[in-house]
Amino acid sequence: MLLIRLLSLASSALAYQKLSDDWLKNVTSGGDDFDVHNGALLAPLLITRVPGTPGQTKVQQHFVNYFSTQLPSWTVEWQNSTDKTPKTGDRDIPFQNLIIRREPPWTRTRPGQANYLTFAAHYDSKLEPKGFIGATDSAAPCAMLMHLARSIDRRLTERYDKLNSNGEPGGTMSSDMGVQILLLDGEEAFDRWTATDSVYGSRSLSQEWENTFNPAMSSYKTPLDQISIFVLLDLLGSANPSIPSYFRTTHWAYKNMATIESRMRGLGLLESDSEGPFLPDGEIDAKELGTTYIGDDHEPFMHKGVPILHMIPAPFPMVWHTMDDDGDHLHMPTVRDWSKIVTAFAMEWLDLMELEPSSGQGRRI
Ligand SMILES: *[C@@H]1O[C@H](CO)[C@@H](O)[C@H](O)[C@H]1NC(C)=O
Ligand SMILES: *[C@@H]1O[C@H](CO)[C@@H](O)[C@H](O)[C@H]1NC(C)=O
Ligand SMILES: [Zn+2]
Repeated sequence: MLLIRLLSLASSALAYQKLSDDWLKNVTSGGDDFDVHNGALLAPLLITRVPGTPGQTKVQQHFVNYFSTQLPSWTVEWQNSTDKTPKTGDRDIPFQNLIIRREPPWTRTRPGQANYLTFAAHYDSKLEPKGFIGATDSAAPCAMLMHLARSIDRRLTERYDKLNSNGEPGGTMSSDMGVQILLLDGEEAFDRWTATDSVYGSRSLSQEWENTFNPAMSSYKTPLDQISIFVLLDLLGSANPSIPSYFRTTHWAYKNMATIESRMRGLGLLESDSEGPFLPDGEIDAKELGTTYIGDDHEPFMHKGVPILHMIPAPFPMVWHTMDDDGDHLHMPTVRDWSKIVTAFAMEWLDLMELEPSSGQGRRI
């Protein structure tokens, strides 16, 4: 029994398969839904959304409404906390994270069995400068994740149905793959960035998950252990971004994302006429990586041992934390290209092509 389980884990690890050119060509960018004035996904996010203000509630409703009406197979859960900030005195400020999941039907009744490809972006905006919109920070990344979800939804259903009808619903890492999107609150400092005035939402969520124990016979001890990788998108949407590979332990995943970018560029699938690759470190060996380090929502998770892929440009966009970080300053071809690259990464990770007849249906699992 033990041996069988080990073997199946090994074979699932070996099965990573790149998307075919045809699959890459079919990845959509979200198009008009990213229009900053009336696009269904992005426009409603381009308002001030400081925790504890009506904007926070409005964008929350936008997320909940989108998933409940358009993607009913995804579950939406809250993780709420309150905290005081250096700018708001004795008031308890609400920080409310959304956890949006899609997982195999058989793991939904078995807490601790699914592993989640995890994407995160923060939806709050900064208190100052007054009226700050934060289009790259991180309205556009949130919209990209909304688009990602709908882009993989049908294929995930097909995958889970197929596994189910093969009579092997679950029990291996590969068959128990799900995806979760964390829309995090309170990333921004209210005053100056410090350990206690920043990442309010992710500190609270990571702590709660560290202290939540799954049933004894689960595959994973805590919800933190269920995160196969934590992909954090931040400050995306300005032209000519360059994102280094920040962590040796996840450099292999960065390389997969970089390969997707270069293949898409080679196939003429990307719109932006970028000065260089978005992901320049794809050919670099892990031991040659730099040591740049950027504080962000991943930190509380990273310090608890979660593997991180940090998708944030260095240097930051010129508009960073200024009034110019608004819809009109987004570089839409770059926004749409990111949307495609990240969506393709999810499709590849979740092995959605595996069940395609032409690619060897039923080969494994
Ligand atoms: C690509 O999309 C077209 C149109 O929706 C579809 O007919 C075709 O099967 C898709 N190909 C792949 C490889 O997904
Ligand atoms: C968390 O906050 C949201 C938004 O205010 C609310 O709708 C939800 O009921 C709260 N959930 C819990 C578990 O308190
Ligand atoms: Zn910011």
